[in-house]
Amino acid sequence: MSLFILLSIGALAYLTIRSTYRLYFHPLAKIPGPKLAALTNGYEFYFDVIKGGMFIWEIERLHKIYGPIIRINPREVHINDPEYYDEIYSSRTRRREKDPIQVAQFGLDGSTFSSIRPEEHRQRRVHLDKFFSKQAITNTEHLIHESLDKIIRNLKDAYQTHRVVNLDSGFAGLTADVIYQYTFGFNPGNLDQEGFNENVRNGANALLRMEHVLYFFPFLQSIMGWLPLGMLRRVNEPAYALATQKLDLYARGVAALERDRNRVKEDKEASNRKGAILDAISGPKIPEHLRTPERLMNEGHSLAIAGTETTARSLAVGAYYLLTMEDVRTKLREELKSVMPTPETRVTWTELEKLPYMSGVVNETLRLSTGISSRIARIAPTETLVYKDHVIPPGSLFSQLHHFILMDPSIFPDPHVFDPERWIRAAAKGERLDRYLVNFSRGSRICLGMNLAYAELFVVLATLIRQFDMELYETTKANIDFVRDFATPYPDKGNLSVRTVITGVITD
Ligand code: HEM
Repeated sequence: MSLFILLSIGALAYLTIRSTYRLYFHPLAKIPGPKLAALTNGYEFYFDVIKGGMFIWEIERLHKIYGPIIRINPREVHINDPEYYDEIYSSRTRRREKDPIQVAQFGLDGSTFSSIRPEEHRQRRVHLDKFFSKQAITNTEHLIHESLDKIIRNLKDAYQTHRVVNLDSGFAGLTADVIYQYTFGFNPGNLDQEGFNENVRNGANALLRMEHVLYFFPFLQSIMGWLPLGMLRRVNEPAYALATQKLDLYARGVAALERDRNRVKEDKEASNRKGAILDAISGPKIPEHLRTPERLMNEGHSLAIAGTETTARSLAVGAYYLLTMEDVRTKLREELKSVMPTPETRVTWTELEKLPYMSGVVNETLRLSTGISSRIARIAPTETLVYKDHVIPPGSLFSQLHHFILMDPSIFPDPHVFDPERWIRAAAKGERLDRYLVNFSRGSRICLGMNLAYAELFVVLATLIRQFDMELYETTKANIDFVRDFATPYPDKGNLSVRTVITGVITD
């Protein structure tokens, strides 16, 4: 018998045994779902890689057939029940881990976000928490205003010259400049560039667009790391943007460690950087094994990506709805006058979050922009979870997609409608709708940058609506609609975009 036939028989036997095990003896064998999904990851591969970020809609379809709990691939269960959310994304008292395979796709080894076990997560996060507390963000709000002033100047100029403005680039420029300034102590000046530097998101978009491919083929991360930059640029321009961004952050990590070794001479450059997160997490109070350039690069990169993309997209979605709904705009402006008597008033997040209609606008902005659209699965290594009649054994992977909760019509009637008043109505009835606003996740891994995101959303949307009349330019709902899931929602074609013309500068 030739070697080929022997190998074929071996492969066939292996596949038969593996399939029988997955279908009948696997700990998740009794969870409902299509047999094909239980048999092979090819099911997910088809929807996410071949069709491009479409598995989320297949999961939605499968829930309609099989009910609220389904096995979506050989090793993962998806539950669609808002009341079960806190069981999955629980507090520290119940041990939850992340999945090393899902985490590997982002190439952020050693960062807080990529921590698998709670012990390593706590050790890394504890040094960041104080920078993102409500008080710390309130003290940092001037960074938001400084960037916003640049956007305002740009919009006033666009009004005079009848220029079209890419609001989405402006928002990405703002969130990027703020988080870079805060994390690395320098301002990359995205907002100082023509058109707000449309390339600012290239690196992040490259990473997000490749999310599914990297999940199935994580070794591609290493190959990209080995390729000389020139070659990478020829093969894949966005991957090149990502690689250069990481190299820059690596150099910043090295420089921070060097500064620490030399105990920072008080020169001008150093005092500019004072307070930067990077200097704090490379300083003497941090355990030695966390102070490597590689880790600092990845921690920095995770802050830069998380701090830019999600909030910028939410701002663009919020702006889209505000510009399409005159009645909402009018009510909002009326309310804003109470804390912004003149359009130029420098308003604070603390003042704005007390306004019920403005809060409803921000909540609807978050709800309809989803934030993170992909599954962020958890593992309970020692706990058996029970969902209705189903048992999820220790070590299994389970998740719950945010989008389904945010668009659940039993919680948010007419879920596709941007309706700030639904929050006011709910509050009047004593309903806690905010329990279901799960954009930032919950429990021990709740979003680190939540307060920064809120401050940016409140201050930016309020200021722009109070100061400008705008009309959408060649922008329809298709430009912001969630059609494809690449970690964050993407429209069917290209990237989310919102373009406007400024039709008036408000003076009273
Ligand atoms: C609308 C804006 C935002 C949304 C919807 C959002 C959403 C989320 C979600 C769902 C998680 C949990 C991820 C997981 O469990 O794997 C998360 C984690 C995280 N977010 Fe955000 N985020 C936003 C803004 C920000 C900002 C402005 C920063 C700035 C630093 C940030 C930094 C992080 C970090 C570092 C983590 C990892 C936390 C950990 O694992 O302990 N996020 N975010």
